[in-house]
Amino acid sequence: MKRFSPLFLALGLTFSAQASDGNDVEVLHWWTSGGEARSVDTLKEMMKREGHVWRDFAVAGRAGESAINTLRIRALSGNPPDAAQIKGPEIQEWGKLGFLASVDDVAKEQRWNELVPHRVSDYLKVDGHYVAVPFNIHRVNWLWANADVLNKVGVQPPQTLDEFFSVAEKIKAAGYIPLALGNEPWQETTLFELIALAVMGTDEFHKAFIEQDSDALTSNKMRETLEVFRRMKQYTDIDSPGRNWSDTTSLVIDGKAAMQMMGDWAKGEFLAAGKQAGKDFLCIPAPGTANQFSFNIDSFVFFKNGATQTTESQKMLAKLILDPDFQREFNLSKGSIPVRVDIDMEGFDACAQDSMQAFLRAAATDNLVASLSHNMAIGRASQIALFDVISRFFNDDNVDIDETMRHIRAAVLADRL
Ligand code: GAL
Repeated sequence: MKRFSPLFLALGLTFSAQASDGNDVEVLHWWTSGGEARSVDTLKEMMKREGHVWRDFAVAGRAGESAINTLRIRALSGNPPDAAQIKGPEIQEWGKLGFLASVDDVAKEQRWNELVPHRVSDYLKVDGHYVAVPFNIHRVNWLWANADVLNKVGVQPPQTLDEFFSVAEKIKAAGYIPLALGNEPWQETTLFELIALAVMGTDEFHKAFIEQDSDALTSNKMRETLEVFRRMKQYTDIDSPGRNWSDTTSLVIDGKAAMQMMGDWAKGEFLAAGKQAGKDFLCIPAPGTANQFSFNIDSFVFFKNGATQTTESQKMLAKLILDPDFQREFNLSKGSIPVRVDIDMEGFDACAQDSMQAFLRAAATDNLVASLSHNMAIGRASQIALFDVISRFFNDDNVDIDETMRHIRAAVLADRL
């Protein structure tokens, strides 16, 4: 018998969802780029080897925005998938509505409490019960550069915002695109976030976006962040409208653009194209953010889907994601670092080694920051509103800075409604 959540019943929704037979699992996710697909294929293969059937429901685009919209429609019509890619505060939102199944059994068996840092496991629980399983830790504040282009222009990768502007000027004069940026709101907000980290520093950033302090959201540092953000536009390329992030990374891979500021899933694209870290491409912290680590943790949740208990396939999936072999395989190609603290980093490239060091350093110095543009800091309603404000500001030079700061404050505070 299908069990409906209280919300379905309240809405009078009783669609006849197809219950999974316990041996297969339908998975909704947005990992469709070259590097992402390669990484998630590892998991599909492992499930197959264990005798389970993975039914793929991939919805491409916009770092998950399209996938989450599809998920909402399916869940609200009483037909959720068995597992879905959801992360950050949104896990709480879905959990509190009664949609998610607990995976406490698996967590206990695999000793997640000992294997996963607390900063991470806090995101995975609702009312003390595990409802999500983590894959990795992505660092968002990276700058990716084409080594050959920088060489030809005769510049070093920029370490500060001032250096960024002088290097970008030279790259532009040499006929390359200095900064590849796809004109999608989440990509623009990623750039905004990385500038905010550098300009505001960790404490002020935290005050503004995590504590949601009204003054910090409209401070002089916020104004400066917006000014730098607008100034960067002239170094991005005009063909950017609507271009997705991985096509944007390709511009750097192909040597048409010199740099991209993006989380380390971008590394997955370089690797999928056969490029080597340190030789063909360089990874350096986004200018001015060497001490900080903006984190983004991918996770899957499991829906109460027909059965009264988590199905065998859902359990197997949860188990495999934290399996040490999978953690290595997946993260080697995904660009992130393993979420388990006991995985040997031998064999990971220099970017992953740097990322691990940066994570440990940032954790010890209070410089770990939940990513603003990747759903780790604010809930969905705020996120959508913020994307809109940032994108409008970036794309229209006539939009006023004071008005934008007020809109940023309203967007971030929308979380409290
Ligand atoms: C992020 C996700 C990453 C990544 C990226 C682009 O939200 O956490 O794993 O692949 O989107 O699709």
